[in-house]
Amino acid sequence: MMLSIAAVCLSAAVFIAAALLFSPASTLLIFCWNCFLKPIGKTGNQQTSLERFYKSQASIYDSTRKTLLKGRELMLRLAKSHLRFTSDMVWVDLGGGTGYNIEKMNEYIPLSQFKAIYLVDLSPSLCEVARKRFEAIGATNVFVHCRDVNEFELPDNQKAHLVTMSYSLSMIPNYHSTVDRAAALLHDDGLAGVVDFYVQSESSYTAKTNTLGGELHRHVNWLSRNFWRLWFEFDHVHLDPARRDYLEYRMGTIKSLNCRNKILGHIPYYVWVGCDKRNASDINYRHQLATESPFLAPRLPAASGSCENLLDLPVKSKGHDAAHVAMLQNMPYPSFYYQREIWRIYYDSQAAHHHQFNNQYIYAFTWEDPIEDHNILKFNSDDVVLAITSAGDNLLAYAALDKPPRRIHGVDMNPHQNHLVELKLAALRALSYDDIWMMFGEGKHPKFHELLVNKLAVHMSSPAFQYWFQVGEDTFSGAGLYDTGSTRWALRLVRWIFKICNIKAQVDALCDAKSIEEQKQIWNKQIRPVLLSPITRLAVCNSVFLWKALGVPMNQADCIETSLFQYIVDTLDPLIDTYRIGTENYFYYLCLNGRYSPKTCPSYITKRGYFNLSRRRSGLDGIRLHTDSINDVVERLTPGTVTIAIVMDHMDWFSPAGKEVDEEISQLHKALANGGRVMLRSSSTKPWYLKNFQIHGFAIEPAAVRKPGMAIDRVNMYASTWVCTKPGMQDLVI
Ligand SMILES: C[S@@+](CC[C@H](N)C(=O)[O-])C[C@H]1O[C@@H](n2cnc3c(N)ncnc32)[C@H](O)[C@@H]1O
Ligand SMILES: *[C@@H]1O[C@H](CO)[C@@H](O)[C@H](O)[C@H]1NC(C)=O
Ligand SMILES: *[C@@H]1O[C@H](CO)[C@@H](O)[C@H](O)[C@H]1NC(C)=O
Repeated sequence: MMLSIAAVCLSAAVFIAAALLFSPASTLLIFCWNCFLKPIGKTGNQQTSLERFYKSQASIYDSTRKTLLKGRELMLRLAKSHLRFTSDMVWVDLGGGTGYNIEKMNEYIPLSQFKAIYLVDLSPSLCEVARKRFEAIGATNVFVHCRDVNEFELPDNQKAHLVTMSYSLSMIPNYHSTVDRAAALLHDDGLAGVVDFYVQSESSYTAKTNTLGGELHRHVNWLSRNFWRLWFEFDHVHLDPARRDYLEYRMGTIKSLNCRNKILGHIPYYVWVGCDKRNASDINYRHQLATESPFLAPRLPAASGSCENLLDLPVKSKGHDAAHVAMLQNMPYPSFYYQREIWRIYYDSQAAHHHQFNNQYIYAFTWEDPIEDHNILKFNSDDVVLAITSAGDNLLAYAALDKPPRRIHGVDMNPHQNHLVELKLAALRALSYDDIWMMFGEGKHPKFHELLVNKLAVHMSSPAFQYWFQVGEDTFSGAGLYDTGSTRWALRLVRWIFKICNIKAQVDALCDAKSIEEQKQIWNKQIRPVLLSPITRLAVCNSVFLWKALGVPMNQADCIETSLFQYIVDTLDPLIDTYRIGTENYFYYLCLNGRYSPKTCPSYITKRGYFNLSRRRSGLDGIRLHTDSINDVVERLTPGTVTIAIVMDHMDWFSPAGKEVDEEISQLHKALANGGRVMLRSSSTKPWYLKNFQIHGFAIEPAAVRKPGMAIDRVNMYASTWVCTKPGMQDLVI
């Protein structure tokens, strides 16, 4: 109790001090008197009590609300980026107050682009301020209606393309009616935007997280929850979770953000855009996209409260099941179903196995060579590829090919790896080459936040957007993207060694070498003796470092047949003899420099690759991102549909004593078409689990086995690459 009293006093002090900083003293006095001291008192009529609160502060309303009502601009910008523009757009702002938001919107969408804009507010004195404002800016298509939002109707049976509520839902006693009304005003494919205060604890939403669009930072701690709720109640502002809950029950969530007002005592607020909950994309169509099901359902609009439209399909996707449950309970569909793009497949964010990743990805870049994959597998446009996502560089390399695979299923258990790929996909859809180069070539972009909200958000799922909204600015500034994820430790170690050994100049010379000969000289004389010294031997050949920085677990370390040090020597020496680092090997260029160079970089950020991916829809549209284990994903693919599975080195991670290898091989066998191939890499020259493939009937063939002094690809980090083929029809007959 003492603690919360202290908190109240402290916050009040912060509040007043902050207000002082931002407004002239007289404004402040009026504001404080009205907000904290003057009793609103009881009155049966909401208009009377609102007027008692607002009348004397109408003229100072805008100047005092800038710091308090955060996120209004963000909501408007998100609404703009998700809005489907038409020539007859109608916008209704419910509880619009002084019209601040409508004037602000003019900076993002010229108001003249709307056929009509309606501001509805119950306070006559605020409506008066609004009228004068619109008169002053000459906005003749804005109409101010001074009445209760719950009684507002659009003239001439119009429907709104945009309905917004900015800090009004928390002030309206009959909020159920208001949310219902907002939904009723909305055009079939219209957009709703809300920004408001809230408080909520985890226990009250964990059972319905599917529909929320991610729950990053949604939980508000006990002290903050109770304090702010009480505090705002003095002013008849209600932060109870029920308002937001009802909004999210009544409409589908497109994007959702949980924020804190950093200037004013971390008051929690949310920014949300959504739509009519029936306006989900076709559930059966999405199911087909996720599962390769040959049964493409007719595109029936899904009617809420009935499940007759759901086909009874032989393979159940998790999304299909979740959509079914939503229908039975008259809930909105999971937020994945309201997104514009079809890349990200539904996943259950509450599943325990997603919570082991510390809110970050491991790989900021992909550490296998996609050119070699193509040399070995010869992808063509009939292929359906399943591959581990990692940082997605290779999925994009396959998609940028002249004849990209028809479908590429990326699989990763870590949601953040897929968030990273969604960011790349959205960037390829929406950004210029220069912006892409800054983000993924240099790893830095000074305007990341602006691009994210204005251009990328509409192409991302809500959880990916939440994630990048939280970490994006830090990621793309400072040391940049390649100094994030667990792989940053490897890059940092390299930089650190260069620094203490004082060989940065020699490394630059290595990257600038004009020939292999020159490169070999610099390496052998100046870098190798330092890099492969006893100190590095100690630092690198230690299992904690391996796991943390390189993502190499103990089972994999056990696959290595030579000493770890010899393994590293066998990796690096032949590379120097084979590829010029400065122009032919973006993998090691990145390690040495912490960024890519236009001379050597992954194909999706070359001009050609960017052109292929952004101009031809076939490549990007074929990508699906699954957030689950390989087993779980493969189990939900239609049997016999996958032609190529690329499992990277992940089978090295299994224990030879366990059953996981056999389970996975038998699932892969089921999902593969006849003649379908599994490609794998291993740190062993003869991985122990090849015999398990043989037992399941696969034909095994080495695609490359590393010998001392010879590089098998530009990474050369694996001792061998294998292709295991499921017998085709003919083979069975013979
Ligand atoms: C905190 S103000 C926000 C004003 C404005 N949307 C903004 O963001 O600056 C809340 C507004 O809701 C209005 N309001 C509250 N209850 C209302 C109701 N039942 N009908 C219409 N307006 C209402 C108040 O008059 C007030 O202008
Ligand atoms: C919502 O409905 C409109 C028109 O019926 C349609 O064009 C749009 O694709 C729908 N939205 C989604 C997310 O499918
Ligand atoms: C882009 O497509 C062209 C032909 O359409 C192909 O020659 C080229 O290799 C592709 N670029 C990349 C980076 O894959």
